[in-house]
Amino acid sequence: MSTSQPDRELVVDGLSIRFGGLTAVESMSFHVAKGEILSLIGPNGAGKTSAFNAITGYIEPNGGTIAYRGIRLNGLKPSQIAAHGVVRTFQKTSVFMGQTAFDNVLLGLHLASRQRPLAIIFALPSVAREEKELAEEARRILAFVGLEARGALLASSLPYGELRLLEVAIALAAKPRLLLLDEPVSGMNPSETASFMQILARIRALDITVLLVEHDMKMVMGVSDRVICLNQGRIIADGPPAAIQSDREVIRAYLGERYTRAQD
Ligand SMILES: Nc1ncnc2c1ncn2[C@@H]1O[C@H](COP(=O)(O)OP(=O)(O)O)[C@@H](O)[C@H]1O
Ligand SMILES: [Mg+2]
Repeated sequence: MSTSQPDRELVVDGLSIRFGGLTAVESMSFHVAKGEILSLIGPNGAGKTSAFNAITGYIEPNGGTIAYRGIRLNGLKPSQIAAHGVVRTFQKTSVFMGQTAFDNVLLGLHLASRQRPLAIIFALPSVAREEKELAEEARRILAFVGLEARGALLASSLPYGELRLLEVAIALAAKPRLLLLDEPVSGMNPSETASFMQILARIRALDITVLLVEHDMKMVMGVSDRVICLNQGRIIADGPPAAIQSDREVIRAYLGERYTRAQD
């Protein structure tokens, strides 16, 4: 396996994840190319979130290697992986509810920039300057996700859809080069979903590579360059959206079941 091909930003090779006797992910191999939006789909329990957790260092896989730009991520802590530019959002919210939207993003920027301790102790003028720059950047990030008018509000007072956008803003504050989004539009209404698709297009325009887990097939088929379908921990298809949509095994394991359910 080559991990140094420049277009292969993330290379996952033979990933296996077990929880006790349960195999959540089995010999999963795939890559994410630089600049693409790759979606991971599949039924509940297929292993999508587990794969995310392994890539971002939240669980230790039982087998396989994960390499980002040729750097082995296995064994690194989530903060070290984030420092390499691999950043995620959580399916369950990671927002500080008692803080304002602005402070949530500012905190994210602080965690990413890690000011030099000496400068803080002596309160050098450069700290004040940096603080001003960070505040400006926090405002820019909020505007980027369409929350510019919400900065002063407590996160706890934001409606659900805006809270999900704040999660993305916090992830952007960590300066991702590869952004992993776990079901970003779940619970959003159709108009919120439509604006999220526009934000995703803008994220791509920033040259950020995206790995997306999502059940909203309209969104997946609309934004993805490539789609991988997982079923019971194994990849059953990997290809462009049109090919995945008409793949017999994908329809049998996932899409067919969803359309049948939708008609119930
Ligand atoms: N921390 C855990 N402990 C035990 N089992 C888990 C844990 N996390 C996930 N699983 C199991 O692993 C399988 C894959 O789950 P998950 O990765 O969350 O799937 P998906 O995100 O595709 O819905 C499921 O059977 C789930 O119950
Ligand atoms: Mg999941």
